Amino acid sequence: MDRIVVRGSGPLRGEVAVSGSKNSALALMAGALLARGETVLENVPWLRDIDTMLEILRALGARAEWQGEGAHAVCIDASRIHNPEAPYDLVRKMRASFLVLGPLLARCGAARVSEPGGCAIGVRPVDQHLKGFEALGAKLRLDHGYVDASAARLRGGHVAFDVSTVNGTQNVMMAASLADGETVLENAAREPEVVELAELLLRMGADVRGAGTDRIVVQGVESLRAARHRVSGDRIEAGTLLCAAMVTQGEVLVAGVDPAHLESTLDKLRECGADIETQPTRVLLRMPERARAVRFVTAPYPGFPTDMQAQLMAVLCSADGSSVVTERVFENRFMHVPELQRMGADIALSGRSAHVTGVPKLAGAPVMATDLRASAGLIVAALAAEGETVVSRVYHIDRGYERIEEKLRSLGADIRREG
Ligand code: EPZ
Repeated sequence: MDRIVVRGSGPLRGEVAVSGSKNSALALMAGALLARGETVLENVPWLRDIDTMLEILRALGARAEWQGEGAHAVCIDASRIHNPEAPYDLVRKMRASFLVLGPLLARCGAARVSEPGGCAIGVRPVDQHLKGFEALGAKLRLDHGYVDASAARLRGGHVAFDVSTVNGTQNVMMAASLADGETVLENAAREPEVVELAELLLRMGADVRGAGTDRIVVQGVESLRAARHRVSGDRIEAGTLLCAAMVTQGEVLVAGVDPAHLESTLDKLRECGADIETQPTRVLLRMPERARAVRFVTAPYPGFPTDMQAQLMAVLCSADGSSVVTERVFENRFMHVPELQRMGADIALSGRSAHVTGVPKLAGAPVMATDLRASAGLIVAALAAEGETVVSRVYHIDRGYERIEEKLRSLGADIRREG
């Protein structure tokens, strides 16, 4: 099993481009199920999760493949869906598979999708997705771990989400785009990935308004056509690379991302002492000195992203002073804490908060990746630690970061993968 070996070294310097957004791409791929014809998505990252989604789309009967060797593009032709069922074996690999339920229900009038179940970072129910489908007139039955959904034709409805849910908003928005009449989604998630999916739907001929606000209004249309779309740069990968630059007191230009998607992250990094300049698709970060301690709380967009919590915490482990990190989105997203402690971090957990007292330098250690962003946090911490850190279970990181070690190496990091 692969391991990533990092030796703490000097400041990272240079320019690095981010890949396309994993979480956008996954939703857009599910969205392609709504149209007959070939949808082409460009700037899709080469990641395990994308391959899993391609596999799911093929299991449903769609043609779904990478467009030629070496291209960051996928083609999805969902003209024929012969089997609207997403089996447990695939859904358990990746929760985002549940995003096929909305499009399948709208296109085929019936769908059977395995319940995703909990995962390392929390219970993660899908009740809000189901509440939305019911409001559109779907009949739902939970059967041996599967959601059986049917509706001869969905009709518009009113959905007030009890929690802000990214995939829930996306799932119901996709279903509503082929329903009869108007659907109103209240307390909709405002994440850029919701806005980007709405952009694809508009290009396909849907009538979706208000994406990016907490009230989305969808007028259902009879059918949707295939479209071409370029996936935007990954804001979380960008934030991770910026944390890597910060922790090593480096100077790095991160290209291929919209800084507007990173505002709350950039604000916090500035508060820690980073000097940051933004251009339309680039962010330049210089870190002149040791980071300063901060307080931050994760929250739905435009709040500080939960997907950046571990990476910023890793920076704060060697910051000057005491920080407080509060996780409000997922109930169990502190699994990196014991691993960071193995590296000498001074962290005390109390409920949903972690009190981090910065130490001058962490010490390299063997550590274990527990989930995607936790592993990114461990790599950030290792970049500024004394000596060698060996991160095992790196398959977690390969789910969401394309060639992370090559990108960091191009900035001067001492990092390698061992088979
Ligand atoms: C998306 O997950 C992302 N995944 C996650 O990315 C990200 O952490 C999360 O949004 C929050 O930003 C994808 O887009 C594929 P939620 P999602 O529904 O949509 C609760 C990463 O590392 N909830 O917005 O599944 C839920 O338990 C990851 O790339 C319900 O209670 O997250 C959580 O506490 C992991 N009922 C909160 O809402 C529901 O029906 C927000 O979850 C749905 C969610």
